[in-house]
Amino acid sequence: MHAYGNIFKIQTWGVSHTQHIGVVIDGVPAGMNLSLDDFAVDLNRRKAGFKGTTPRVESDIPEILSGVLNGKTTGSPVHIQFDNEKFESKDYIERDFYRPGHADFAAQQKYSGFQDKRGGGFFSGRMTVLLVAAGVLAKKILGSNVEIRAEITHVGGKKKYDNILQQAIKEKDSLGARIECQISGVSAGIGEPVFNSIESVISHLAFAIPGVKAIAFGDGEKASEMKGSEFNDVIIDEFGKTETNHNGGINGGLSNGNPIVFSLQFKPTSSIGRLQKSWNTESASIEEILVTGKHDVCYALRAPVIVEAVAAIALTDLIMMQNARML
Ligand SMILES: Cc1cc2nc3c(=O)[nH]c(=O)nc-3n(C[C@H](O)[C@H](O)[C@H](O)COP(=O)(O)O)c2cc1C
Repeated sequence: MHAYGNIFKIQTWGVSHTQHIGVVIDGVPAGMNLSLDDFAVDLNRRKAGFKGTTPRVESDIPEILSGVLNGKTTGSPVHIQFDNEKFESKDYIERDFYRPGHADFAAQQKYSGFQDKRGGGFFSGRMTVLLVAAGVLAKKILGSNVEIRAEITHVGGKKKYDNILQQAIKEKDSLGARIECQISGVSAGIGEPVFNSIESVISHLAFAIPGVKAIAFGDGEKASEMKGSEFNDVIIDEFGKTETNHNGGINGGLSNGNPIVFSLQFKPTSSIGRLQKSWNTESASIEEILVTGKHDVCYALRAPVIVEAVAAIALTDLIMMQNARML
């Protein structure tokens, strides 16, 4: 299984067009209330069906297979499964070209052609429903003191993006986006130097979201253009509150008690409804191709809740590691 985590661990299985996909979440404390209703808000936020997103709208009803009894977690791994219902595998298995921007060619080399290509296999954005489900548990464990909020700041480089989105839809093209995430209420001192800094753990999980191409903490790239006198965050009270937050709430890989701020850059959707070129494996030449199937014009419109989920999973594991150190 694809696995991540030290104490709060997640493992995912299945691919885009298997009958089911699932996530097993270990390290969930016993006695926590957990019902299907807890998942509804976050799963709905990820759902497609609105402007700029795919017509593949899954019902996304979670089925809890184990780890919960009489509405309470039992302390054993929580296993959650979803059905895949709305897919057309024929769009994927009859291709004789590698789709530009997708993992088709790289996966072909890695798995010698035995990989499940349907719907992009486990490289598909479909798999992120599992991250959102695990994120629901992580958010519950973190409690209401920790607030995680991700939002789209730019689509195709623009803050106001309705027109360019409409244009991309009309031109059968696609757009990328920038999403910013703010996490408040994390006490100072969370994070494990040297190899499990908050930045590394959040980044590790953020790159499990397909299509993410860059991450920045605090002022990110701008940091290299600023002077120390501009960038330094002055501490203004005994709790470590700072006047500014250029460092994005992290120093030395540890939370400093100020909001943790990071941003992600999502690339434009690779599958576009326009003619493109690619290598044809039958004719062994470059040919014009048309990628079919159901696709988001800007899948990042659905991604803020996925970003929140990975942030929650990262912090839950790091806080549990910190708690394990305490006498
Ligand atoms: C929620 C979500 C939905 C996605 N939907 C699509 C899609 O409809 N079409 C597409 O080409 N890529 C889509 N992607 C992105 C691809 O999965 C991704 O670009 C591809 O697997 C290659 O991985 P990489 O971009 O990380 O290299 C989606 C990603 C996410 C997070």
